Amino acid sequence: MARITLNVNGSDRTIDVDPDMPLLYALRNDIGLNNPHFGCGLAQCGACTVQLNGQAIRSCVMPCSALSVVGNGKITTLAGLGTPEKPHPIQAAYVEEQVPQCGYCINGWIMTAAQFLDEKKAQNKKPTDDEIKKALTGLKCRCGTHMAIMRAVKRAADKMIG
Ligand code: FES
Ligand code: FES
Repeated sequence: MARITLNVNGSDRTIDVDPDMPLLYALRNDIGLNNPHFGCGLAQCGACTVQLNGQAIRSCVMPCSALSVVGNGKITTLAGLGTPEKPHPIQAAYVEEQVPQCGYCINGWIMTAAQFLDEKKAQNKKPTDDEIKKALTGLKCRCGTHMAIMRAVKRAADKMIG
C-alpha cells in the first residue's frame, strides 16, 4: 500500500492504495466519484475518461503510482467540469439535445469533447464535422446516440466560439 494525494476537482484527497491500482478504482471506490465508469478496462471504450491537467485520459489504465510521477497533476471528473447552476457548455448541450439513452457512455464523450472544445476555443476556430469525428474517435456508445452527440458538440461550439 502507498499513501498518495490526488488533486481531484480542486480538492486534495489523500488515500492509501495499491500503487498498481488503476486511478478509476481510486476515484470510484476510495473517493466516491462515480461519473467515470468501468467499461472495458482496456483503454478501448472511453467510459472511464477523466482529464489530467486538461488532457483526457483513460483512468482504467492509469496506475495510481503514475500520478506520483506526474506530481501535482490536477484531475477533473465530469462532476468537476461544471455545476448544475453553471454547467460546461457541452454538459448543457447534452441536456438541450437530449443526447443520453442509457447514459453509461456519456462520461467519456463529454470529458473528451470538453478538452477538444477548449482547444478549439483557444484557437478561436469552430470545428468542422470531420474534426469532431476525429476528436471523438475511439469512444463507444452502444445506444447509437452518435448523431445527437454531433449536434451537441456543434451546439456547444456555437456557444463557446464566437
Ligand atoms: S473502461 Fe477505460 S477505456 Fe473502457
Ligand atoms: S447512451 Fe447508452 S451506451 Fe451511450
